[in-house]
Amino acid sequence: MNISPIAVCINPHSEDTLTQFDPAISTVLVRAANEDSLNLVRPYFVTTDGCQALTGRAKEAAAKLVTVNVAQVPLISPFRYPGGKTWLVPEVRRWVNGLGFRPSVFIEPFAGGAIVGLTMAVENLADRVVLCELDPDVAAVWRVVFGQNDLEARWLFDQILGAKLSEAFVRTIIDSEPESVKEKAFRTIIKNRCQRGGILAPGAGLVKAGENGKGLLSRWYPETLVKRMTLLRSVRARVEFIQGNAFNVIREHAANPTAAWFVDPPYSLGGKKAGSRLYLHNSIDHEMLFDSMAGVDGQFLMTYDDAPEVIEMARNRGLVIARVLMKNTHHKVMYELLIKKT
Ligand SMILES: C[S@@+](CC[C@H](N)C(=O)[O-])C[C@H]1O[C@@H](n2cnc3c(N)ncnc32)[C@H](O)[C@@H]1O
Repeated sequence: MNISPIAVCINPHSEDTLTQFDPAISTVLVRAANEDSLNLVRPYFVTTDGCQALTGRAKEAAAKLVTVNVAQVPLISPFRYPGGKTWLVPEVRRWVNGLGFRPSVFIEPFAGGAIVGLTMAVENLADRVVLCELDPDVAAVWRVVFGQNDLEARWLFDQILGAKLSEAFVRTIIDSEPESVKEKAFRTIIKNRCQRGGILAPGAGLVKAGENGKGLLSRWYPETLVKRMTLLRSVRARVEFIQGNAFNVIREHAANPTAAWFVDPPYSLGGKKAGSRLYLHNSIDHEMLFDSMAGVDGQFLMTYDDAPEVIEMARNRGLVIARVLMKNTHHKVMYELLIKKT
């Protein structure tokens, strides 16, 4: 039987909820309050049957905890974003609050639906928030939401509130090739709400039956969308949106020691190749991203799939790896890696 030793250290003082993880060392840190629970399950760690039983139960318990976390996050993004990090917001909040300084700027260089950066802006957890996104369709929405032009924003809101969604209408909008940013933004919102999984990349099909058999209307909440965008416009003085390449933004702010970063790149290495079908821009140089982030003077949290190549890239730069539980879109409980400096 192959049993690796598990050393258990009771750590009553640490407030850090990110359990640092190193696959080479089987040390588990738990809070003192968990000592009794741990003693209850301790015998099951060492027998094959016990391990199986424990894994099943642990997944059930973890699934419940993950659900509770997501319910604590106000949904303020107009996007339903594939690979969106709503579930990670409580963890990032805790991390920012524990940094020991108020970030002069919070930067999300791969913004997408930007739920993390938006939360920082709305909850006033940093002086300024910088969001960057390369995809012109996604960028169009952010340019209207955070832009100076009230008429453009009003136009977008009116289109959303007045739209009568039918398959013909949706197809006409999706097939259109608008020139203006506001029309592009409207097309993006329609695509994001009516295409399966919110996928904006070429080849995404329309939602068929949708939630409760409501078809195209199953994710169409016009008033809610406008309310969210109105809230975001109310904090636009502290948000800067950049349509461009994440690497330029990283270079620009690299020397700021009071910057805090949330870095969630498209991921297309390892076992999961999800990134390549979800986003128009899905390929980046991950080694270069690790080099760039390892060189910034501020603090960052970077998130990646739990894959051996990623662990190696982080280790090679002396970065700290933590694993957090998440539930994917198919409600499967799995791990995601969080990578940071210290
Ligand atoms: C995993 S998603 C981010 C999801 C986001 N954290 C959320 O919660 O919605 C990665 C995003 O990076 C964008 N992207 C890809 N390459 C980029 C680049 N070089 N610069 C900026 N954005 C890029 C993709 O278009 C995609 O929207």
